[in-house]
Amino acid sequence: MRILGTLAELAAFRALAPSPIVLVPTMGALHEGHAALIAAARHQAGQNGTVLVSIFVNPTQFAPQEDLADYPRPFEADLSLCAAHQVDAVFTPSVPEMYPPGNSTFVEETRLSRGLCGARRPGHFRGVCTVVAKLFLLTRPDAAIFGEKDFQQLAIIRRMTRDLFPGLEIIGHPTVREADGLAISSRNRYLAPEERRRATIFSAALRAAAEEASPHQVVAKATALITQGTGSAPEYVEVVDAETLESLETLDSAAVLAAAVKIGETRLIDNVRLAARHAKI
Ligand code: PAJ
Repeated sequence: MRILGTLAELAAFRALAPSPIVLVPTMGALHEGHAALIAAARHQAGQNGTVLVSIFVNPTQFAPQEDLADYPRPFEADLSLCAAHQVDAVFTPSVPEMYPPGNSTFVEETRLSRGLCGARRPGHFRGVCTVVAKLFLLTRPDAAIFGEKDFQQLAIIRRMTRDLFPGLEIIGHPTVREADGLAISSRNRYLAPEERRRATIFSAALRAAAEEASPHQVVAKATALITQGTGSAPEYVEVVDAETLESLETLDSAAVLAAAVKIGETRLIDNVRLAARHAKI
């Protein structure tokens, strides 16, 4: 497995890398969720293609009060996980190479980024799009894999790719969960044991509410269960169209229930798909 720390090293590797090239962008602190994306990348690339994982804690997607400085960086453990999953190369660029001094150019998706997490984290998806676009330009992959856990991010990247990188295939991967249903996240390690118990209730609440008949009832039930079970009011609970992310009144198109809640200092997000049905309202 190659470790590519500079743009020059990446360019030299890329020039000789066998196709198809499948990219898994990450911020490191790799866990079972990332491992599943990497395994899917190997499947997509085949034994002769190239699996490239990027590890870069992207400063432009963190707001000033967010956890950029504290974001976990267990680099050696990350490399071991990649090596164990047949990764061909890990790209770990420096901040000054990704953002040269004086940089002032960003990539912004302007419609899907407005609601949900975008409304609560101004500039977050601009940072995500900017770094992912740079990674696409530098690595020129045939396909890239993203998790459905960050379902708004996935929808925005699909849109950006249709707009700016035609021909590049974006593959969504289902959310990988702990045995009790909590979506695995690098931030789960911040949860104290009592908070961890409340986090489980958050995911269970979404699954239970997903059985309700109409978007209105789904949102009402999820909000009540989250508030009672975790002791925190959710940041948002919404039923949206899976592709356009527009709020839905009925459940006759592909819909997703998405929510965010803060448990202690840790912000959790999760989502579940809702089966299409004809609501009795
Ligand atoms: P990060 O949080 O490290 O996640 C990297 C990828 O792993 C994302 O596509 C995310 O959706 C996926 N992922 C995380 N937890 C998962 C789980 N439990 N199940 C399935 N997939 C999971 O998302 C980012 O980094 C960044 O925003 C990035 C796209 C790398 C841009 O900086």
